[in-house]
Amino acid sequence: METSELKQAFRQAYGHAPEAVYFSPGRVNLIGEHTDYNGGYVFPCALSFGTYLLIARNDNRQLRFKSLNMPQIITLGLDRLTTPLPDNSWVNYPLGVIAQFIKKGIQIVDGYDILIWGNVPAGAGLSSSAALEVVTAYAFNDILHTGFDRTALALIGQASEHEFAGVNCGIMDQFASAQGKKGHAIFLNCDTLQFELVPVKLSGIKIVISNTHSPHKLDSGAYNDRVAQCRLALEQLRTVRPLNNLAQLTEEEFTKIENAITDPVAHRRARHVVGEVQRTTGAVEALKKGDILAFGKLMCASHVSLRDDYEVTGPELDALAEEAWKIPGVIGSRMTGGGFGGCTVSLVKDEAIPEFIEKVGAAYTERTGLKADFYIAEIGDGACKIG
Ligand code: GLA
Repeated sequence: METSELKQAFRQAYGHAPEAVYFSPGRVNLIGEHTDYNGGYVFPCALSFGTYLLIARNDNRQLRFKSLNMPQIITLGLDRLTTPLPDNSWVNYPLGVIAQFIKKGIQIVDGYDILIWGNVPAGAGLSSSAALEVVTAYAFNDILHTGFDRTALALIGQASEHEFAGVNCGIMDQFASAQGKKGHAIFLNCDTLQFELVPVKLSGIKIVISNTHSPHKLDSGAYNDRVAQCRLALEQLRTVRPLNNLAQLTEEEFTKIENAITDPVAHRRARHVVGEVQRTTGAVEALKKGDILAFGKLMCASHVSLRDDYEVTGPELDALAEEAWKIPGVIGSRMTGGGFGGCTVSLVKDEAIPEFIEKVGAAYTERTGLKADFYIAEIGDGACKIG
């Protein structure tokens, strides 16, 4: 949808014009999965699609929310902004962010009309919820002149996800949405939040996102279980060595003390995390040297570890990745994001893309009975005001 159409939709919903339009992107993670809440490295990039937010003050001392994907306007009084709505309402994503501003002592004294529209495929694991959180944080930071930097806005989005969506997520998605830069991936240390923007120069190769359209989503229960299993592994390792987080260990160090983890599931989870952190740093080094083949191999190894040790892939993501690996022009392919349903990310040579889409698509349907979708990803910028 064009900005002019969004403005028109705003006028139709509220009877007056918006004062400003903001945008924040979804993300795709190239490598470094389930490492963020373990203090490890991630390597995501912002996408060119995301969530738009249009806003104007109103005179009713109410917040009114309208999503173009939902029929009705949801209206809340200014005294009703600090607790989530029931039934997992979509409004909890922007509301949770506003509640974080209030928690920081910022008063909301005016009413606002808000219209949301997004073009991140829903439920695809490309962080449509982080895009909505970050666009809300960016917009309110601008309107209220609160002066938070982009990292602070990402942290506000993450806190909102914890408190209003019940997902104990790491910082990767909100960070990528806030700090993304066109043509770059973000090499982020999730312990210190130091990051480096690394140019992604892929001559003759594209980033292809394949959507499982699988009904099995990584729900908050399965995700929070993984977070808890990693905590258990860390606690047990701490009985033999002082540690702040799992990501501090190299694979060699881990093998020396892994017997301290008595729970076999927690042991596998920790082994994935330690290996994935090493793969991520290796992949970034390879990319900087222009060794894209080495980068691709690490992507495939990441998927195998997420399948066998972290157990967050499932038959649909496995089918897409495993079928992709069979195509000669595929440099690497792996699941991206939280897992189960959602998407894979693949690096595919330009000339192999039609064959990739045809063969992976057909084999996927044969293996799962579902139809996959394919998008060529463009790496876009982080949150911004667009008018
Ligand atoms: C989800 C979470 C992120 C991260 C990924 C897995 O996208 O929101 O914080 O943990 O899963 O890497």
